[in-house]
Amino acid sequence: MALPENIVLPRHIGIIMDGNGRWAKKRLLPRTAGHVQGAKAFRKCLRHCIDLGIECVTFFAFSTENFKRPPEEVNAIMKLFSDYLDEGLDMSEDDVVMRFVGDLSRFSGELREKMLRMQSETAGNHGTVCCLAVNYGGRDDILHAAKQLISEGADPDTLTEDDISEHLYTAGLPDVDLVIRPSGEQRISNFLIWQSAYAEYVFMDVLWPDFSENDLDLALTEYAKRNRRFGGL
Ligand code: IPE
Ligand code: IPE
Ligand code: MG
Repeated sequence: MALPENIVLPRHIGIIMDGNGRWAKKRLLPRTAGHVQGAKAFRKCLRHCIDLGIECVTFFAFSTENFKRPPEEVNAIMKLFSDYLDEGLDMSEDDVVMRFVGDLSRFSGELREKMLRMQSETAGNHGTVCCLAVNYGGRDDILHAAKQLISEGADPDTLTEDDISEHLYTAGLPDVDLVIRPSGEQRISNFLIWQSAYAEYVFMDVLWPDFSENDLDLALTEYAKRNRRFGGL
């Protein structure tokens, strides 16, 4: 499907890349195979966001809670991150600004350095901002911001919501307008809870590795139909 010319697009899209394990299970493959396929779906989806001129997209790749999974699975996901960082951005992505949002301190020094390198190498680009949420938890994000504000001696009498926003991992980015969750689950799982306070939510039955350009277009079409009131009339 082609999107109408003048469709209202979200400035910031959040995508919970869920369903890799079930995709693999359906095919009698190890869960890791689902993550490999999920990484391909990520690249395809990012490219489509770039083509549509989306300002910012945050992909939930690994939650603070995902460390509860068996070490083999966690290690396989870390390896995929590392491979992705080694491959680097391709031609169609060469104007993307990459950001890694989350508590990077739990990653190996090598992985962290690769993430920070990609971040600084793309910081001067002017295209779509692509955030990868890794070891990310919405509650951890808010706690981390609170700790920073306290350590900076923030004054409780003058503290504003903007002060908190500017201390989150997503500082400087617009609030999330649309959250897409594939895989059939209808929950937020601790994703961008502050930033998505007034987002529209689209839950889809497709498993993340099968998520296509058409699925993104469907979610964007649904978003464009919503009447956002922000508490007003
Ligand atoms: C999402 O897919 C990837 C991560 C959470 C790292 P899952 O691995 O959660 O897949 P399901 O939900 O088990 O199908
Ligand atoms: C959310 O998926 C995290 C990511 C997609 C990275 P989960 O599979 O971890 O979420 P739950 O456990 O179903 O809530
Ligand atoms: Mg899951």
